[in-house]
Amino acid sequence: MKEKFNPELVKCIDLSFEGKGVTKTSYGVCFVDGLFPGEEAYIEIQYRRAGNLFGKVTSLVKKSPHRIQPLCGVCSACGGCQFQQLDYDAQLEYKTKKVKEALERNKIKGIEVLPCLGMEENPYNYRNKIQVPLGLNKHGKIISGFYRANTHEIIAIDECFIEDVRAKSIVKNVKQLMKEFRYSPYNEDTGEGLIKHLIIRTSYHYKQIMLTIVTAYDEFKGRNNFVKALKERCPEITTIVQNINKRRTNVILGEKERILYGTGHIKDSILGVDFIISSKSFFQVNPIQVEVLYKKAIEFAELKETDDVFDAYCGTGTIGLIAAKQAKSVLGVEIVGDAIKNAKNNAEINRISNSSFIVGDAGKVIEDLANNNKRFDVVFVDPPRKGLDEKFINTLLKIKPERIVYVSCEPETLARDLAILNKSYVVKKVQPVDMFPMTYHVETVVGLYRK
Ligand SMILES: C[S@@+](CC[C@H](N)C(=O)[O-])C[C@H]1O[C@@H](n2cnc3c(N)ncnc32)[C@H](O)[C@@H]1O
Repeated sequence: MKEKFNPELVKCIDLSFEGKGVTKTSYGVCFVDGLFPGEEAYIEIQYRRAGNLFGKVTSLVKKSPHRIQPLCGVCSACGGCQFQQLDYDAQLEYKTKKVKEALERNKIKGIEVLPCLGMEENPYNYRNKIQVPLGLNKHGKIISGFYRANTHEIIAIDECFIEDVRAKSIVKNVKQLMKEFRYSPYNEDTGEGLIKHLIIRTSYHYKQIMLTIVTAYDEFKGRNNFVKALKERCPEITTIVQNINKRRTNVILGEKERILYGTGHIKDSILGVDFIISSKSFFQVNPIQVEVLYKKAIEFAELKETDDVFDAYCGTGTIGLIAAKQAKSVLGVEIVGDAIKNAKNNAEINRISNSSFIVGDAGKVIEDLANNNKRFDVVFVDPPRKGLDEKFINTLLKIKPERIVYVSCEPETLARDLAILNKSYVVKKVQPVDMFPMTYHVETVVGLYRK
């Protein structure tokens, strides 16, 4: 039977690690979206999950001085921007505190966490990858927007304030042309309709834009005329790809692709190194802050011309290729084969000859290398949220590189791993960087130096 809760007046005492307001109710601690420290509100407790209560504000009684009017009218319903109603300085303060508290919980003491580096000019319109689902409203009009948090219901909206401004008019023109060409959006319930998603990837440093049209089936009648008409209306698009995804799953992209116009990829650059981005490649979504992040990573590595560098969890080779300019050699390892293909290609287009890349599990590869007496002066690690695995850390402690630079997207696992590495390494520099303004996410770069 569904648990019933009475509404309560609560005070927000903190922000959780997912950016939710922490409140105490007579039923226990309740996490509330869009409620900030110091604020008081009537809340409705919606559900209990894994022993925790989750609720929403029904009426705000006392406002935080840091609360601001959000630019986006649907930021609460969409759930993508937890912090659009919090001023930017307070967002950065929260992120610095989040990293500090994670270190303290893991008993890493006496280390200064530097203030989170935010976007200097405009913390909006930064996203270079925009994924838009399409559907029909009850009047049969084509709509685009975002899924309501935790659902597949599309909230129709024409503008997202954290996306590159160039995306908006492309989406609008595609929808107009779909009507003219009688292409219907895909309906998840009936399985009918052609176009599922639009994905727009923009280059920050070059005037290039890629549009990927995800279709439910292969046949795209009249596509040449459609592409021609779209190119006339949006000459800024430099390449158009059809991605075919016949599956009825949450995964947006299918395996098969067809280039409809241009090269099928765009190019962007980070700290002077060019990277080719195809519809499926991973590329950091904030092109301005990625330079801030990597600049710090390179600075903390204190690279020398004689250094052999290991770039673990290297993706498309971004960190390693930037480091290669200042080092003797770079070896990158990544588990996704396509990313390694991209990394090799990226090395080639930049004429970087002192780098090599291999596909494999970082833990297994470093262990094999260690068993063959291979040693590194500097190791960069940029693992997924779950952090480093045991095999990787144990081998790292065995081969003991002089310097380790840890780039992390999850303070909790970062702190867990630092507590282990701390035995043989001094944790000197901890620098949070805001890669995702308006959200609770924080990236951190840490410099570790052999004791
Ligand atoms: C946070 S991303 C970093 C990518 C890259 N450094 C960048 O900034 O573009 C983490 C990467 O680790 C890879 N990965 C996940 N598990 C891995 C493993 N066990 N061994 C090697 N790579 C792994 C993922 O595929 C992903 O590309």
